Amino acid sequence: MHKKGPIGVFDSGYGGLTVLKDIIAHLPQYDFIYLGDNARAPYGTRSFEVVYEYTLQAVNELFSRGCELVILACNTASAKALRSIQQNDLPKIDSQKRVLGVIRPSAEVIGQWTTTGHIGILATEGTVRSESYPLELQKFAADCVVVQHACPMWVSIIENDQQNTEAGKLFIKTDIEKLLLKDSEIDVIVLGCTHYPLIEDYILSLVPSSVKVVSQGGIVAEKLAEYLHRHPSMEKLCSKNAKIQFLTSENTKVFNLNASKFLGSEVYSEQIHF
Ligand code: DGL
Repeated sequence: MHKKGPIGVFDSGYGGLTVLKDIIAHLPQYDFIYLGDNARAPYGTRSFEVVYEYTLQAVNELFSRGCELVILACNTASAKALRSIQQNDLPKIDSQKRVLGVIRPSAEVIGQWTTTGHIGILATEGTVRSESYPLELQKFAADCVVVQHACPMWVSIIENDQQNTEAGKLFIKTDIEKLLLKDSEIDVIVLGCTHYPLIEDYILSLVPSSVKVVSQGGIVAEKLAEYLHRHPSMEKLCSKNAKIQFLTSENTKVFNLNASKFLGSEVYSEQIHF
């Protein structure tokens, strides 16, 4: 017997909060549990096996807390773990529960925004190496040229609040230049890591005004609303008391302080141990 429960939102760290913020704005009536595996972040440079193992642990934690639906608000986890969890683990755990990612919903709409047909993807090394964006975009924007660039330092820079330092800014600027050097016709840049919206303003200041910089939060929120509309049996299992709970594998004081900055409101978390 399935009971109503909150929607789980998972990320390796703080980045998923940029998605949660938009989801709450679109779907304020629902309950959510956010889980940040901050103690083991970043995931972007970790192997496929490790990202899969950590993500599955997080998903099971959210299921054990009553979630029927979990969103992997992390591109790296979506790229490296989602398919295995959906195909191999969910049938064994509970075939009615669902886990969704952020790459597919983004790929469904990105193609509409380019005029030149050249799309740039900025993401972690893991997401870039997985080729998930080019593969998914092939299904929805087959005529587009997709150019990827990995930014291995960005998640650490952002998790450590170094984005406004001279060194942090130089790393970010250099990566943007490298992407645009690969293809000068890019007119859409996808922030393919949920941490990157935190530096969106700085990125915008570095690219020509003709280039559109796309964050995923709004896209994922809209696609989740559509999903719930198309799946009324799942929608009925999502509790609606407008309650949000935060879990972190890190020290809660550190998490609360940083998460409040990401979310723009006070955060009180509970520590979990994997
Ligand atoms: N926010 C995660 C993503 O979207 C960051 C991954 C990491 O921990 O490196 O990919």
